[in-house]
Amino acid sequence: MDSPLPFLVAMSSLLLILAGLYMTRLGLLGKRRRSYPPVAGTMLHQLLNWGRLPEYMTELSRRYRQNVGGLQEFTACLTEDAISSMHYLHATLTETLRLYPAVPTDVKCCFSDDTLPDGHTVRRGDMVNYLPYAMGRMKFLWGDDAEEFRPERWLDDEGVFVPKSPYKFTAFQAGPRICLGKEFAYRQMKIFAATLLYLFRFEMWERDSTVGYRPMLTLKMDGPLCVRASPRRSTGN
Ligand code: HEM
Repeated sequence: MDSPLPFLVAMSSLLLILAGLYMTRLGLLGKRRRSYPPVAGTMLHQLLNWGRLPEYMTELSRRYRQNVGGLQEFTACLTEDAISSMHYLHATLTETLRLYPAVPTDVKCCFSDDTLPDGHTVRRGDMVNYLPYAMGRMKFLWGDDAEEFRPERWLDDEGVFVPKSPYKFTAFQAGPRICLGKEFAYRQMKIFAATLLYLFRFEMWERDSTVGYRPMLTLKMDGPLCVRASPRRSTGN
C-alpha cells in the first residue's frame, strides 16, 4: 500500500490553516482588533487574488489537477519532490506576499548609534520602521507594473522560480533574523492552495468590490471577504 504520509500531511495542513481562518473569522465577527496568523492571512489574500483574476486560478488548476482521480489520490501526489517542483504556485504565493505581506510594517529599535548604508544616522534608542507593504508596490523596485498581480515576474524562461533579494522582497524580513518558518510556511501554503484548487473554483461575490485594510501587526482586511467557492465536480474542469 502507498504511504499515507502525504495524505496525512495535506489534511493536517488543511486543518491548521482552516483553524487559522476560523480564528480570523472570529476576529472579524468578535474582537475586531485580533490579528491574522500570517499563513492564514496570506491564504485569505490568495483567495482575493483568485477571485479577482480567475485566469491565474484556471492556469494553476490546469497544471496540477490533470490526470488525477479522487482527493486521496491527489494528496498522495503531494510529495516533497512534487511540492518543490510547483514553481508556478510558488510564484503565485510570492506575488500575493509581495502585494499583501502578512507583516505589512515592522519596527526595530537601535541598540547603538549607527550609520545606515544610505548614509542616514540613527541614535541608540531610535525606532526604525521598514514597510514591506509599501516596498512591494514601489515602481523603482518592481517596474511600472508594480501594482499588478503578475506571478510571471518570478519565473525565468523555463518557468523556474527565481528568488529575489530578501532586502527587496521583505515579506519574511532579511538578514540573521529572517523568518525561520519561511520554507515551512511555503510548504503549508502550497499544500493548502493545491488542495483548495483541487476541490473548488473561486469567484468574487461582486467582481468589482474593493477591500480595505486596518493597520495592525499583521495585514487585516477591514470587513469580510465575500468569495463564492463552487465545488469542482470532475477532474480537469
Ligand atoms: C506567510 C507566512 C509568514 C510570514 C509572511 C512571516 C513573516 C515573518 C517576519 C516578517 C518575521 C520577522 C519579525 C521580526 O523580527 O520583526 C518573522 C519571524 C519569524 N517567523 Fe515567520 N512568517 C510566516 C510564517 C511563519 C511560520 C509558519 C513559522 C513557524 C513555523 C514562522 C516562524 C518564525 C520565527 C521563529 C521567527 C523569528 C525569527 C528570529 O527572530 O530569529 N513564521 N516571520
